[in-house]
Amino acid sequence: MTSLYANPKYYEIAFSYRDIPQEVQVMTELICRYSLIQAKRVLEFGCGNSPHMEELLRLGYTYVGIDLSPEMLEYSRQKAEMFDCHIELHQQNMVDFSLDTPVDFAYTMLGSLYVQSTEELVSHFASVSKALNPGGLYLLDWCVDFTWLGDTDDSWVVEQDGIVTYVQHSTRLINFLEQTFEETIDLAVDDHGTTHRLRQTSIRRAIYPQEFFLVTGEAGFEYIGGWNNWNLHEPLQGTEELVERPIMVLRRA
Ligand SMILES: C[S@@+](CC[C@H](N)C(=O)[O-])C[C@H]1O[C@@H](n2cnc3c(N)ncnc32)[C@H](O)[C@@H]1O
Repeated sequence: MTSLYANPKYYEIAFSYRDIPQEVQVMTELICRYSLIQAKRVLEFGCGNSPHMEELLRLGYTYVGIDLSPEMLEYSRQKAEMFDCHIELHQQNMVDFSLDTPVDFAYTMLGSLYVQSTEELVSHFASVSKALNPGGLYLLDWCVDFTWLGDTDDSWVVEQDGIVTYVQHSTRLINFLEQTFEETIDLAVDDHGTTHRLRQTSIRRAIYPQEFFLVTGEAGFEYIGGWNNWNLHEPLQGTEELVERPIMVLRRA
């Protein structure tokens, strides 16, 4: 089956249920409240199709993206060309990467912190620590797990310009000591009568709150706060019954 991350256009439609302008507004509000430096250069890990790029460029930020998929990077490059904007893209692994010029703000969206072990988790934050200017923020969307990641199943449908994407997302526990699970995203596409089936399978390590605080603290980050569902009126208390798309914000000390 064809890889989902090699098909940016269908990925983009399937994950277009987000309110991107509102999310960028939250990002800029967080920068305004908590960043100790002026944010100019922003970096996205696992940038994929760079959904927030257009809004960020419009606001005058310089966009930097890191991803493993050449197809995703090319798609983002072409989008930036359409806006007549220069962006910086790097085909690197977020686990261990380096940038020549540091950034002022970094973010990872939709739980895209792809690490498979504790070593990789530690390595990611060590790399971020070197790439982010002191006083800058790192925002993580849905990257910290508040419930045990055993077996989960979810599905949704998105239609755009006559293209219908049927998405199935599932996780299956592999090893509870290593906190590893397999994530599968299946996409069935009906593109004006032509059908495609795409799949992405990844082995991942779950990240629970207390170890997140420990690892990021060791890497030189200060925990600024967490909010439920991208809503700055809903700071995370830890007693919520339902936590959905929580964002966590760190500041490089
Ligand atoms: C769920 S998509 C997120 C795309 C985009 N950031 C968004 O918000 O929709 C995850 C992206 O992470 C990339 N990716 C997966 N593992 C990676 C790694 N170890 N280093 C860099 N990118 C990675 C994939 O190629 C894919 O484009």
